[in-house]
Amino acid sequence: MQNVTLTQVYKHPIAKKYVARAGLDHAINTAFSAFDIAIRENVDTDLATKAAFLHDMGHYQWYTEGEWDFHSYKENDIHAIKGAERAHKLLIRLGEDRKAAKEIALAILLHTDSYLPEGQLHLDPLQQVVACADEANEEPNGMHHYREITEETALLRLQSLDRLVAGSKVKKKTS
Ligand SMILES: [Fe+2]
Repeated sequence: MQNVTLTQVYKHPIAKKYVARAGLDHAINTAFSAFDIAIRENVDTDLATKAAFLHDMGHYQWYTEGEWDFHSYKENDIHAIKGAERAHKLLIRLGEDRKAAKEIALAILLHTDSYLPEGQLHLDPLQQVVACADEANEEPNGMHHYREITEETALLRLQSLDRLVAGSKVKKKTS
């Protein structure tokens, strides 16, 4: 059983605001990829899909002289730090298990190393799933953030992913 479903997360005003800012379509595609990779790698699909869906919710708007400056933003941004904190707060509010909320927040914090000083990160399997799923859905110049999707389609896709996650958990218990 999922403590908190993707659909519940999506319907919360905080998720609506911040997930949409970085691209709802990208968030959903990344969540689907995370599901596939998690199944392959034997990682918890519930944690992986929620972390992937929320991984970019820390993005914020940054304009230089009234113009959106993607390159300057990319160089100076700390969206993974903000996202981890926002996602954690949201999940706790929705009643997520504290341990799960922490694991999800950590996977979001580490889904990119763009804000860290040079060095090698050692990711655990869940963190790797989220980082790989994000990478699989990236397009040049951040174009994946601008793909459009209707609210109706978003909801239908998340409901079907919730069913997949629930099914995979049942299977895991019986196997
Ligand atoms: Fe992303």
